[in-house]
Amino acid sequence: MSQPALELEGVVVGYGPVPVVDGVSIRLCDGEWLSLIGPNGAGKTTLMNAVSGVLPVRAGRIVYFGQDVTRWSDDARARAGLGRSFQKTHLFPRLSVLDNVRIAVLARRRVRLRALWARRDPAVDAEAYESLNAAGLAQEADRPAAELPHGGKRRLELAMLFALEPRVLLLDEPTAGMSVEEADGIMEVIQAWRRDRGCSVMLVEHKLDMVMRLSDRIAVLHQGRLLAVGSPAEVMANPAVEAAYLGGSVDGG
Ligand SMILES: Nc1ncnc2c1ncn2[C@@H]1O[C@H](COP(=O)(O)OP(=O)(O)OP(=O)(O)O)[C@@H](O)[C@H]1O
Ligand SMILES: [Mg+2]
Repeated sequence: MSQPALELEGVVVGYGPVPVVDGVSIRLCDGEWLSLIGPNGAGKTTLMNAVSGVLPVRAGRIVYFGQDVTRWSDDARARAGLGRSFQKTHLFPRLSVLDNVRIAVLARRRVRLRALWARRDPAVDAEAYESLNAAGLAQEADRPAAELPHGGKRRLELAMLFALEPRVLLLDEPTAGMSVEEADGIMEVIQAWRRDRGCSVMLVEHKLDMVMRLSDRIAVLHQGRLLAVGSPAEVMANPAVEAAYLGGSVDGG
């Protein structure tokens, strides 16, 4: 069997004294699409932030292709291909869509930003266009990022993520606030990228029909603990999962 892309081993994360994610262990196989679901406040975003390196881990380990990255910075992880989508603050609203993606390409290559303005590098442009094409944004290359509609901004975030050439895509509700059609479009972009590049996906998503359709496996988080993990059919047939979503007891009591 090939090496797992990601192994979470007993991961504990929190903000105050009480852990919000409490001892979660999940394995993401190379090339796998694993979706993380669970009720609001279950700790999904907190866990994703720990995996991407935005939040420190209090206990446990995060292993990326056999390498312990638990103490690595978020930038170091992103450069190694453990890619989270950029937060909104990383979008430069007055710069063009293309320049935003160029910045992501240069960040991966560790080129100083000044170089972006000093000269145009055709290789950088080619890579940026590859990401823009994959995200379906090539037509918008010259528009200021601020002018894009909500769905377009999310596509731009994806293009910037693709420019990092991730081996694992960490996606936290990439379709939040979108219509069904827009959401389907975003998911097609992610599916196509994964198919072409063979990368793995860890997706947090509330739209369960989408999750059922796209995932190899689903992990269910409830009150900071892993409640279930398995195939979509297994997870949906699990009474504890249903109980968690209905807000009832999950241990049958
Ligand atoms: N910055 C923060 N400071 C303190 N507590 C926080 C912070 N962010 C989240 N929490 C708390 O941690 C818990 C888990 O939140 P988290 O955002 O990880 O849940 P989630 O599963 O992503 O929920 P949702 O589905 O609504 O996005 C919640 O009780 C939340 O109130
Ligand atoms: Mg969340």
